[in-house]
Amino acid sequence: MTTADRPRVVLGVSGGIAAYKACELLRRLTESGHEVRVVPTASALHFVGEATWSALSGRPATTEVWESVHEVPHVRIGQSADLVVVAPATADLLAKAAHGLADDLLTNTLLTARCPVVFAPAMHTEMWEHPATRENVATLRRRGALVIEPAVGRLTGVDTGKGRLPDPGQIFEVCRRVLERGERAGEQDLAGRHVVISAGGTREPLDPVRFLGNRSTGRQGYALARAAVARGARVTLVSANSELPDPAGADVVRAGTAAQLREAVLKAAADADAVVMAAAVADFRPARYAQGKIKKREGAEPEPLALVRNPDILAEISADRARPGQIVVGFAAETDDVLANGRAKLVRKGCDLLVVNEVGEHKTFGSETNEAVVLAADGTETPVPHGPKDALADTVWDLVTARLG
Ligand code: CTP
Repeated sequence: MTTADRPRVVLGVSGGIAAYKACELLRRLTESGHEVRVVPTASALHFVGEATWSALSGRPATTEVWESVHEVPHVRIGQSADLVVVAPATADLLAKAAHGLADDLLTNTLLTARCPVVFAPAMHTEMWEHPATRENVATLRRRGALVIEPAVGRLTGVDTGKGRLPDPGQIFEVCRRVLERGERAGEQDLAGRHVVISAGGTREPLDPVRFLGNRSTGRQGYALARAAVARGARVTLVSANSELPDPAGADVVRAGTAAQLREAVLKAAADADAVVMAAAVADFRPARYAQGKIKKREGAEPEPLALVRNPDILAEISADRARPGQIVVGFAAETDDVLANGRAKLVRKGCDLLVVNEVGEHKTFGSETNEAVVLAADGTETPVPHGPKDALADTVWDLVTARLG
């Protein structure tokens, strides 16, 4: 890739302690072939100095509009960018951006940029929840900016709550996905929508140390969550036993068993525009849970394992929609007669879309790629060629948005 072909990214950094995490985001962006110009605010330099930004980006990092004035940086940097990402975005920076203030290089850049703009806010919970910040965020979103929800966790000092900068690797994923959408990069067709995605595989405990589980890693569900964030949705990810990092911008709810997953999905689905059941939910659970570890008895045969049915969450939410027009999507993992079984399952479950894929020991589970056919209740069938789980995720959201109206 020549320098001219490289996507040009402006990394704006405002003055919060999470500025140190932006160094990692910068490293990921440059190492993956982006040409990055860092524009820190004066306050950001209290946390991480100019030398660090310059060394990591390979170019000067300027804060004020008064340097290299002949190059008109306050206009050119924004004009020539393919993406502007501000991480961390403080409450002050969001307020300035929402009101169109332009008193330093970063705020000037935000006014002149015509490319997609991503804000990754980080601040104390009280500041994030303040009506002033809420309104500023709503204004920015209405104008087409992607403001990703902060994560929940440890904040500066002893506080914990919502307001943490998401993992820089995951902010990088958001940037990558926005850029990858090419001409549709700035299009947020899920803006204002709440989507719920279940991912991973449930575990049904037998005793304190054993469970019945399955091989799902959560990759497809997490890819769906990342894709929905990049398209502007509010995302609740109900995650069953996945070890993947939390996608930036998604509210992650943990569930262990099918019963816990059902409870979390039903709760989140109450105001959802779409629910996607990508989790591998155990159809059965042990009839009895042994309080103590089940011991083998010398010379005796093991007790047969009695199982009982788990409720079918997909069928339940399809039959009893929490709100009119809610779109419900299921996944079907099949080993034989893939399409015929898929078509029958679509009818049986009553969902709007069913993503059918063939599984086997070396197919789908744990892999980065997938191949599927999406069957729709209206009879249409959309084949998705072998490719990354991210691509399948975008096809699912294309089909969902077409049906949301
Ligand atoms: N599912 C669910 N609740 C269950 C079992 C499955 O919501 N108790 C959902 C899964 O999340 C998936 C879809 O149903 O979206 C298909 O699951 P699958 O296991 O393929 O189908 P089954 O109903 O188990 O049918 P079969 O055992 O005949 O393959």
